[in-house]
This record gives sequence, structure tokens and C-alpha cells, in this order.
Amino acid sequence: MTEDAFKLTSPDGATTLDLPVRKGTLEPNVIDIGRLYRDAGVFTYDPGFVATGSCASDITFIDGEKGVLMYRGYPVEQLAAQSNFIEVAYLLLYGDLPSKIELEEFDTSITRHTMLNEGMLSFFKGFRYDAHPMAMLSAVVGSMSAYYHDTMDINNPDVRNVFAHRILAKLPTIAAAALKLNMGQPFVYPRNDLNYCENLLHMFFAVPAEPYEISPIAAEALDLLFILHADHEQNCSTSTVRMAGSSGANPYSAIAAGISALWGPAHGGANEAVLRMLKEIGDKKNIAKYVEKAKDKSDPFRLMGFGHRVYKNFDPRATIIREMCHKVLKQLGRTDSPLFELALELEQVALKDDYFIEKNLYPNVDFYSGIIYRALGIPTSLFTVMFAIGRTVGWVAHWQEMITDPSGRISRPRQLYTGPAQRDYVEVSKRG
Ligand code: SDX
Repeated sequence: MTEDAFKLTSPDGATTLDLPVRKGTLEPNVIDIGRLYRDAGVFTYDPGFVATGSCASDITFIDGEKGVLMYRGYPVEQLAAQSNFIEVAYLLLYGDLPSKIELEEFDTSITRHTMLNEGMLSFFKGFRYDAHPMAMLSAVVGSMSAYYHDTMDINNPDVRNVFAHRILAKLPTIAAAALKLNMGQPFVYPRNDLNYCENLLHMFFAVPAEPYEISPIAAEALDLLFILHADHEQNCSTSTVRMAGSSGANPYSAIAAGISALWGPAHGGANEAVLRMLKEIGDKKNIAKYVEKAKDKSDPFRLMGFGHRVYKNFDPRATIIREMCHKVLKQLGRTDSPLFELALELEQVALKDDYFIEKNLYPNVDFYSGIIYRALGIPTSLFTVMFAIGRTVGWVAHWQEMITDPSGRISRPRQLYTGPAQRDYVEVSKRG
């Protein structure tokens, strides 16, 4: 990184600071404010971190104005069209596309880590039959730190690598166990003759009573969705993983923290909320009413799956997912999907509305993904779990980057204090 400087002058003109500008590979550049408090006695203030960079990262680049998303420099459109999720996972974790041998070895390692310790399966006997899958996912992932003491020396690169392969491999198995509990069906073990997405479908939908035939378009759609959900720079859940991990907490707990952050409807929980919203809207004739509700400041209703902190143009993932929606529904013979028709119409109406145009509100990654999951028979309550399965590799890549950063330190923001000035304690007998 090279340096220029921003000049900052205090209101009374007494203090002038040269704050260095750090330049990365691509803009925007950043102002390094590390010396600000020491030299000027003030903090910066940026609730929600709208314009604050928390770290330097080599992993993912987003240009929200141009709708650009790149993993390690590769445009997501190229990866979506030419790669597969396991190869993209390798790219995110190790920084470059693998050789044929590297990819085979990585794929085999992931396959051979898909089973759970039998003791972990007993956790599912303790959950209510209708427990939300995200609650079960965060609980069971957090419990992995109780099972895998051999992968807790986070300063050992081999240990970090085993952790990465384990967590990536076991997420689908844990998700499947949660789904089978909700469905009241027996748990289905992973199979080593199936690839990552085929295995997930098998564990989700196979039953002992009859053979299960995996749909190629379902496996293809899941692979694409996992590629598109794999990483997204310093989003809420990834920043949570980095912050939790910055204290030196074990990596399973850091990932469990990320799962919890993802669950919120403003973040990964939006894909589940989109389906519920579409069902509530119900018919194209109601779209105008709901668009007005979304614009009404006195109404908490928001158009779920619309808007984004970074993209002020189309979310490139939404465009790709919308095309996959068409393909999946056509190949599954579901072209009359009223929910998809409703989503397409809602998008058209919103994108012509001045409110959405002025605020740059476009469909995001969560707007169409749920329609594909639903077409594949995945229950709405599992949609955010699907997001977590894709995003886990991004969380792990960022955790690894944070934990191996030689200048890394515990994340500990400051604040603007607005509470009471000092006051003295009053005995309860003397209070009003
Ligand atoms: C993800 O960060 C990431 O990268 C996230 C993600 C990833 O891959 O990790 O991309 C995944 O989380 C996608 C976002 C999924 N969430 C939703 O679809 C929920 C609906 N969207 C909103 O809640 C909202 O758009 C956010 C949370 C996505 C972004 O919130 P911001 O950046 O804090 O923006 P904001 O809430 O300040 O909105 C700006 C304005 C506001 O109006 P004003 O106060 O300026 O008058 O736009 C309005 C908002 O009221 N607005 C919406 C809206 N989203 C924003 N109005 C109606 N419907 C919406 N969906």
C-alpha cells in the first residue's frame, strides 16, 4: 500500500493532522485514522460502519456503483458460469484456483469429513421437533468446539486447515439432521460417492423406504447458489466472525457467532422473509398496496429482498439467480409458479417507482433465491441455513486472514457517550 495524506484541522484551528491515505489494488482508498485519538483527542463516528473500513483484505472486492463482485480477482459471473462450488471454496480459502490434483485432493478431503461424531447427532434428540433450523445450526456448530479439541491451536496452520475442511464438510450434514428432525424422518448419513450438492440433496430428501433419485438441475442450482453466497467482503456476519475470532476464541465459536448474525431479516434471514412476504402479497393486484406500505415511513414493512448497503445498482448475484430461477422452474415443469410470476411483477413495479429509483433499491441476493429453494422442496425455515452453508467458506477465509494478520489485534470500537455526566449515589431511603 502506498501513502498520500488527508489534512484535518481542528475546529479551533489549533491542530492540523496529516492522516495517511492507504491505497489498495482497487479503490476506494482509505484514510488511516489510527493516530487520530492520540494526536487530536477525538474518535470518528460512523454507526453501522457505512463508510468505515475495518481491515485490509485480499479475498473479495465489491463495487456497489457498478454492480461488481470478484472473489480473489475473478468476476463472480465467470465463476458462476465456468466453475463449481468446491473449486470456488478452494479459491477463497487458498487464494488461487487449484491445479487438477489440488482440486481432487481438496474435494476428497471435504468428502471424507462429511460425517458427524455420533455424539453430536444425539443433540438433535434434545431439540423440539419444530425447532428453527438456524437455532439448531448455531447450537450444533458452537458445540463442535466441545468435540474437536485437536483443532483448537489456532496458531498452527495444519490445525487451521483441518478446521476449515471439517466445518465446510459438516454444515450440510448438520443442516440435514435439522431438517430430518423437523420432518420427523430418520437422519440420512452422507455418501462418499456423491459430490457436495448431490450429498446434500440425498441427506435432505432420501428416506429408507425407497430409492431417492437426485435431480441434476437441483444439484446444479444449489452449486450455483453456494458459489454466489460464498463471500461478500465485510458484511454483518463476516464482520461478526472476524470480531469474535479477534479475541482468540476458538474458530467453531466464531463461526457460530456468524450464523447468529446471519439469521436476522435485514441480512441472511431476508430470503426466508421474501417468501413470507410474497405469500402475504398473494396476488399481483396487491403489489401496488405493498409497494406503498414499503414507502410509508410510519409502516415498519420493507420490501424484503430489496436494497443493499453496498450495491446502489443491481446486485449481480440477483441477476444470475433470476436466470437460474427460470431454468429450474422450466426443467421441473413448474413454469406456472405463481410466486415467481409475482416476484417478477413486483420487481418490475418497484424498479419503475420513484422511491426505489431515488434510493437505489434493487433486488438483492435474497430476492429470488428462496423461489429456487422452494421449487427444490426445501422448506422456508431452512432458507437461511442454505445461505449459511454457502457463506461458511467466506467466513472461514476471513477468519484465517484475520488470525494470520501479523498486525492483527482484538476488535474493540469506541463510542460517543451520551449518558449522564457524573453524579453521586443516593441512599434508597433518600430517593423520591
Ligand atoms: C444481505 O452486506 C452484505 O453484503 C449483505 C449480503 C451478503 O451477501 O452478505 O449481501 C446479504 O444481507 C442482503 C440484504 C438482505 N436484506 C433485505 O433484503 C432486507 C430489506 N432491505 C433493507 O432492510 C436494507 O435495504 C438493508 C438492510 C439491506 C440495507 O440497509 P442500509 O444500508 O442500512 O440502508 P437503509 O436501511 O439506511 O436504507 C436507506 C433508505 C432508507 O430510507 P431513508 O431513511 O433514507 O428515507 O432506503 C430505505 C430505507 O427506509 N430502504 C427501504 C428498503 N431498504 C432500504 N425501503 C423499503 N424497502 C426496503 N427493502
